[in-house]
Amino acid sequence: MVKICCIGAGYVGGPTMAVIALKCPDIEVVVVDISEPRIAGWNSDHLPIYEPGLDDVVRQCRGRNLSFSTEVHRHVSDADIVFVSVNTPTKTCGLGAGKAADLTYWESAARMIADVSVSDKIVVEKSTVPVKTAEAIEKILSHNTHRRHGGGGGVRYQILSNPEFLAEGTAVADLLSPDRVLIGGRNDTPAGLAAVAALRDVYARWVPPDRILTTNLWSAELSKLAANAFLAQRISSVNAISALCEATGADVAQVAHSVGKDARIGPHFLSASVGFGGSCFQKDILNLVYICECYGLPEVASYWREVIRINDYQKGRFVNRVVASMFNTVAGKKVAVLGFAFKKDTGDTRETPAIDVCKGLLGDKAAVSIYDPQVTGEQVSRDLAMNKFDWDHPRHLQPITGTDVAGQVAVAADAYEAAREAHAVCILTEWDEFRGLDYKRMFDAMHKPAFIFDGRNVVDVAKLREIGFVVYSIGKPLDDWLKDMPAVA
Ligand code: NAD
Ligand code: UDX
Repeated sequence: MVKICCIGAGYVGGPTMAVIALKCPDIEVVVVDISEPRIAGWNSDHLPIYEPGLDDVVRQCRGRNLSFSTEVHRHVSDADIVFVSVNTPTKTCGLGAGKAADLTYWESAARMIADVSVSDKIVVEKSTVPVKTAEAIEKILSHNTHRRHGGGGGVRYQILSNPEFLAEGTAVADLLSPDRVLIGGRNDTPAGLAAVAALRDVYARWVPPDRILTTNLWSAELSKLAANAFLAQRISSVNAISALCEATGADVAQVAHSVGKDARIGPHFLSASVGFGGSCFQKDILNLVYICECYGLPEVASYWREVIRINDYQKGRFVNRVVASMFNTVAGKKVAVLGFAFKKDTGDTRETPAIDVCKGLLGDKAAVSIYDPQVTGEQVSRDLAMNKFDWDHPRHLQPITGTDVAGQVAVAADAYEAAREAHAVCILTEWDEFRGLDYKRMFDAMHKPAFIFDGRNVVDVAKLREIGFVVYSIGKPLDDWLKDMPAVA
């Protein structure tokens, strides 16, 4: 029986291994993590992440051929294939701070593999890493093996790059039916080819052969960064056009629909928004920018950096619009924030645009009342008290200095409570439930003029204007009120 061990029981490691266990009942799959609370969560009825369909998959496999454990060394030692799915955050200090990927967690996982292994292993990069990481990991593993085993006949490792393309909120569906599975390996040696074939055999249980792509290691590593950069670039492109739509009276939804009808462009990932969030896009583009700079390609670096600049511009533009529309001040005014997660169907708040928007409103002294169906008040407080990039460095967490937002932030049990006696409502996540709210009920309980700022284009603008709201919806024609109160970009 093949045994798989995955280091890192996070948003990628947990769902990916659960689906492998589901589709390969003859393979034993163990997910290990140094975080005891995370493993306890995976072993309980309340999984540590919210992902539609995941409970069901875990329930079917846990105790059969899927387990979660903190006994990292034992399970790594026993495994034939070791996936490494640890976090690879942006560096917060030292060389490349604010851009380069921090490979501390990756390197310590690799050194641990070298320390505990007594049999040959295939080591699979699941985390998103800079190009050439596999080569570095190979060096760590082979040098340490030689030291332990006296130079000859030691443990042999094959490194594969198998980046993950799942998106949160649709992780299970993405894993069950991926657009492609990418396996990068050393295709110039028999051992390399055998390792690629072994991993391909795992996925081939449910993924059609033409969707399993094999490349060299560096192409696989770079493809992941490039794919995320292309996706984020589409969002920044449509968001840039949304600003022009507001200025000209065009409607971004109509423009995006018309543009996306071109088969060469396609309809996906063209929804204008308050900005993209999530743990991947910004981090991976910054990493790409850093790599370009390191290889002496400043023009390429600045091209991709612009994708992030437009994203920051979009979030700032939204805050400015809110403040400018409300007579240039929100000081002491209650603003309801509907949605805090970085997208619908997840409780994940990493790099959510809601953090920047809320901080902007708090900076202007608003009283913010937040409702999100999946995000706890504790999480909101943590996020609003954190400096940029700190969220993925648990050991370095520092509260923001000189800012006391405690008295300005409340967390509401539902959208109506958040909006009660508010001056404005900001919609920051596209949760389905926000489409069906009783906006008349909300309007009646709000101060007048009552404003709605829709950062996700979920509301019916005409209907809300009929109720009496002043409505702003990203990239939509402005009503007269907003035209008279221009926001500084
Ligand atoms: P995560 O923070 O949710 O999970 C990482 C886990 O690794 C944590 O639970 C942490 O405790 C554990 N860990 C860190 N060092 C460890 C060690 N030495 N031994 C054992 N456990 C250790 O991160 P994630 O969102 O699952 O992302 C993991 C990787 O996958 C990142 O490189 C990310 O860029 C990439 N990725 C993420 C997504 C996504 O949607 N979240 C999608 C594709 C790729
Ligand atoms: C992304 C990639 O899609 C996935 O392939 C990769 O493995 C990890 O990073 P994720 O961040 O989970 O996945 O979600 P995604 O659906 O890509 O959304 C990212 C952000 O972009 C969200 O904040 C979302 O709301 C926003 N977005 C997405 C838009 O603003 N407009 C769109 O048209 C699509």
